[in-house]
Amino acid sequence: MSNHIAAAPDDIAETVLLPGDPLRARWIATTYLDDASCYSSVRNMLGYTGTYRGQRISVQGTGMGQPSLSIYAHELLAEYGARTLVRVGSCGGLQESVAIRDVIVAMSASTDSSINFLRFHGLNFAPAADFTLVRAYVERAENAGVPHHIGQIFSTDSFYLDRPELHDRLRDYGVLAVEMETAALYTLAAKFDARALSVNTVSDSLVTGEALSSDDRERSFAEMVELTLDTVTA
Ligand code: ADE
Repeated sequence: MSNHIAAAPDDIAETVLLPGDPLRARWIATTYLDDASCYSSVRNMLGYTGTYRGQRISVQGTGMGQPSLSIYAHELLAEYGARTLVRVGSCGGLQESVAIRDVIVAMSASTDSSINFLRFHGLNFAPAADFTLVRAYVERAENAGVPHHIGQIFSTDSFYLDRPELHDRLRDYGVLAVEMETAALYTLAAKFDARALSVNTVSDSLVTGEALSSDDRERSFAEMVELTLDTVTA
């Protein structure tokens, strides 16, 4: 067991899907995985392992924000030998061209968090996705006709960010969407020489103010998860 995950060393697969919401972890495991079993419920941050098309896959809730995700990603990488981590999350669209339900494939992540500022002694590290995962996911999204965008995301520490001028600036520089976890995920994957990808359905638009209903959220989330499972088990 690690500090926050109550699993035996071999309980967790090398490939782990990371939804923010632990109930989404349970939903993915019970909907898509064969022989799924729960390996940890510490703090109700549920984690499951099962098989998808015969391959071992785990799903671990991370909670919201970079500090919470960092705890789970660090322990998966440092103590359980995880090698491929894929965040399956949601985000707020920043561009007019980004519609509700589209999938944002995050190639890189800017952040207002001080975590990397401290980690790199004031230097601006550029957290980036694993290219092979980006390419494989995008191929599947194209084949399935799932609307998607590939590019920059912004990982903020404040959901209720009262800085419209910052969003305007990010929009001007082509940032597609805002969420709260990806920069930390990509940084930790780099530290542990592992692969990471973050894919996020657009649940709300910071341009139009539109937001998905919870039924629609679930439907577009399911489509993104199916493509993710196909990608990591190909
Ligand atoms: N995740 C989903 N929508 C978001 C938003 N508007 N801001 C930050 N994170 C989000």
